[in-house]
Amino acid sequence: MTATNEVQSAPIIEVRNAAKRFAVNGQSLTVFDGISCSIPQGAFLSIVGPSGCGKSTLLKLISGLEAPSGGEILFNGKKVTGPADGMIYVFQQYTKSIFPWRTVIQNIEFGLNSHKKGLSRTEREDLCRHYVKLVGLEGYENYFPYQLSGGMQQRVVIARALICEPSVLLMDEPFSAVDALTRAILQELILNIWRTIPVTILFVTHDVEEAVFLSSRIISLTKSPAKIHEDVAIDLAYPRDQITTRAEPRFHALRQRLFASIFLQEKGVAP
Ligand SMILES: Nc1ncnc2c1ncn2[C@@H]1O[C@H](COP(=O)(O)OP(=O)(O)OP(=O)(O)O)[C@@H](O)[C@H]1O
Ligand SMILES: [Mg+2]
Repeated sequence: MTATNEVQSAPIIEVRNAAKRFAVNGQSLTVFDGISCSIPQGAFLSIVGPSGCGKSTLLKLISGLEAPSGGEILFNGKKVTGPADGMIYVFQQYTKSIFPWRTVIQNIEFGLNSHKKGLSRTEREDLCRHYVKLVGLEGYENYFPYQLSGGMQQRVVIARALICEPSVLLMDEPFSAVDALTRAILQELILNIWRTIPVTILFVTHDVEEAVFLSSRIISLTKSPAKIHEDVAIDLAYPRDQITTRAEPRFHALRQRLFASIFLQEKGVAP
């Protein structure tokens, strides 16, 4: 597992010719039409692209939160027709998904309610403590969200998602609401988690540097109506860390190439 966690077997997710249209003020808006990609189990795949191009929409289609207007999404070979067991969505706005009236441990335990029925009290507590440790919140078990920093609250949300043992974690700009240093710490945290447990991560971000640092693969979308502009394997070795990985010439080359491609599209001067 030096380069990636990817398992060379049947893809865990397949997007086949997906289209999404919305009716806006009596008019049809095509966000994309004809997006296809295949995501291997164990990938850390980021989706980048200009603002409004349809990144979140694509993630919602994959998660089953939105239905495609055309084409289909397969999860483990089965057509996605609604939110599927085994896929969990982590939103950017942790303040909207955390329960303010529950402590850290109670928030995390909530994830167990639908996924692990029939556990004893001790088993539930042990499991919660395991995830508290995984996200580095030991000592804060009985704190309420208002007593935590933004980064700590996002850790709670991540632990609550992971305790359900999802095979796919869908993250929509999960770190964009925290400061730069906290963001760097959370990036290392999610990478360490991804390398510790068997989870496939689909990660939407505006930030090309973040995508290159984290991902085994990046899909870059064009402006709306979006197409896949580039599908790039990120050939930087794992484990990665903020100091050494970001100093590698290959990191800079990949970041520069992807940034130029998205920036020129945003400016409207891309080929
Ligand atoms: N529920 C909806 N109804 C109508 N239009 C929508 C809806 N959701 C998204 N859209 C439109 O679809 C397009 C893509 O939106 P989306 O949120 O997927 O973009 P994005 O790439 O995630 O943008 P950002 O980078 O700003 O988060 C936008 O034009 C948006 O206005
Ligand atoms: Mg978005």
